[in-house]
Amino acid sequence: MALGESTTVLVGVTGGIAAYKSCELVRALIKRGYRVKVVMTQAATEFVTPLTFRTLTNEPVAVSLWEDDPSAPVHHISLAEEADVFVIAPCTANVIAKMAHGRADDLLTTSALATEAPIVVAPAMNVHMWRDEVTQANIAALRARGVTFVEPESGELACGDVGEGRLARVEDIAAAVIAEAERARDLEGRTVLVTAGGTQEPIDPVRYIGNRSSGKTGFAIAAEAARRGARVTLVTGPTHLADPFRVDVVRVETALEMYAAVMEQAATADAVVASAAVADFRPAEVGAGKIKKGAMPEAITLVRNPDILAELGERDLGGVRIGFAAETSDVERHAREKLLSKHCHMVVANDVSDPALGFGTESNRVLFVTPDGTTDSGVIHKRAIAREVCDRLARLLDGESSA
Ligand code: CTP
Repeated sequence: MALGESTTVLVGVTGGIAAYKSCELVRALIKRGYRVKVVMTQAATEFVTPLTFRTLTNEPVAVSLWEDDPSAPVHHISLAEEADVFVIAPCTANVIAKMAHGRADDLLTTSALATEAPIVVAPAMNVHMWRDEVTQANIAALRARGVTFVEPESGELACGDVGEGRLARVEDIAAAVIAEAERARDLEGRTVLVTAGGTQEPIDPVRYIGNRSSGKTGFAIAAEAARRGARVTLVTGPTHLADPFRVDVVRVETALEMYAAVMEQAATADAVVASAAVADFRPAEVGAGKIKKGAMPEAITLVRNPDILAELGERDLGGVRIGFAAETSDVERHAREKLLSKHCHMVVANDVSDPALGFGTESNRVLFVTPDGTTDSGVIHKRAIAREVCDRLARLLDGESSA
């Protein structure tokens, strides 16, 4: 991405002796060309004064949720929205714990909860606090939600103990921030079409044939792509999920409606991510009124729906095509077959036979299947899957443009 003042890095400073190293971090980020804003916890101000950061950044430094100036913008929202990347360095065990549980009792943790920006956390604490199971569980929970950690180093700690817990080197924290900032706009100028959710195929005005797709993964992908600068249209089957920010949402019910909406958009799309669980069949006849139980036929005749993704592939529409495969056995083999038969650049496959994962849950485990090989994601949050899909999409799009 183009470097410059348009990239805003929000640096969060919490109360630890390593807070003085945040000054170096702020300087490194400013040198790189970013606009840097600082938010501190009250405890952090015991170690470094807001004036230090104010002088380094030439920006007001935020500490309190309760802004003195009533005409100033609502801080927790404005900082959260302005940030392209939010880095918290040093981050104490306490702030990690608050973030893991969604607590927002000061400006820093409120911004962390409210931001859509990628979050980088560089912990610093006593070795026993670092090793404590609860801290490690909190870190695992945040990691699963897509937070990047820059691991602390081992060495002599301020408290006299020796072990891990010392803030990572400033260069390493800056490198993690730069990686996030570059990724932050890597879909700029791209048009991405995402399908999500399951379709509903009516039997009559009150009954339908449907499936268990919640739409969560597709919505997360649409939100992530939009956040990274893409123009996104999301065509979705019925779901309770709210429209993601800055995404054009087209809500449909049936496979035929989804087909029509996708075909209308496909010619101008640079990429299509087909995460929808499209019903392969629909009832041949739809009752005009509610079919009384006495009149319900013993068998419902089904007819095939168009295969939207396969047709895009055959007609070479939609640019880079990423398909999904929900399987209950031989996941990789079936996914690889779909990669070929539907002419996709990648298939994201998952095993839906495990009730703890997949449909309706927050996490999933997927295989990224490409002509070059297969990568297993392990169990991760659907937002982390969305991030990985967008990372791969950006690389595929770059490959296409340079081909
Ligand atoms: N798909 C589609 N239109 C359909 C059916 C599927 O666009 N009518 C897309 C899905 O959005 C997904 C991929 O094709 O990206 C694979 O869907 P899946 O249901 O796993 O596969 P099917 O093609 O239905 O194959 P099968 O039922 O044999 O597993």
